Amino acid sequence: MRLFFGISLPAPVCEAVVRRACACRVVIPGRYVPENNYHITLAFLGDVPPERVSKAAGVLAQCLERHPAPLLTLGETDYFGRAQNGILIARVHSSPPLEPLHGALLSGLRAAALPFDPGAFSPHITLARHACVPAAPLPGGEALSFTAEHAHLYLSARNDQNILTYTPLETFPFAPVPPLFSK
Ligand code: 2AM
Repeated sequence: MRLFFGISLPAPVCEAVVRRACACRVVIPGRYVPENNYHITLAFLGDVPPERVSKAAGVLAQCLERHPAPLLTLGETDYFGRAQNGILIARVHSSPPLEPLHGALLSGLRAAALPFDPGAFSPHITLARHACVPAAPLPGGEALSFTAEHAHLYLSARNDQNILTYTPLETFPFAPVPPLFSK
């Protein structure tokens, strides 16, 4: 089972990303991601045998317990890879940063002898693949913010119409945000 950990978008943020993707579509050809698949990847595991899925869920649950709910803000439109055939993204800024959580997830996966992609981590929402990105400034969008209360263990699989879908299998809460002032 192809698995990854990620954060889903609340409806108003998803709608803002749809508006941005629509603005991009006018000037940037590419294979645009259906809005149901919008997410922020925290760690990509890849293929995990079914009997090890609960172990993967445990890694996510344990790590989230030790990380307070992050405030996430939609950032600039950008791309990964080559401009002629890139991955068009909206960057995501986080307070606190997501990098320590990403590192903790990879350490937990390693300790549990589960697979993971050790590649560079840069929080984003994928808007389109195979994008032909012009040199001109890219369409931006609203810098909406939201607090991510939960993260998910996602299954990536093709549905019966052969469409790639990301399905949350398990959902776990982040730790509560500590109060700004304590007595
Ligand atoms: P992304 O859009 O955030 O980059 C399921 O495959 C999801 O896992 C993809 O949408 C992709 O999310 C993310 N992912 C991260 N690393 C990956 C990898 N090495 N191979 C495939 N997907 C990866």
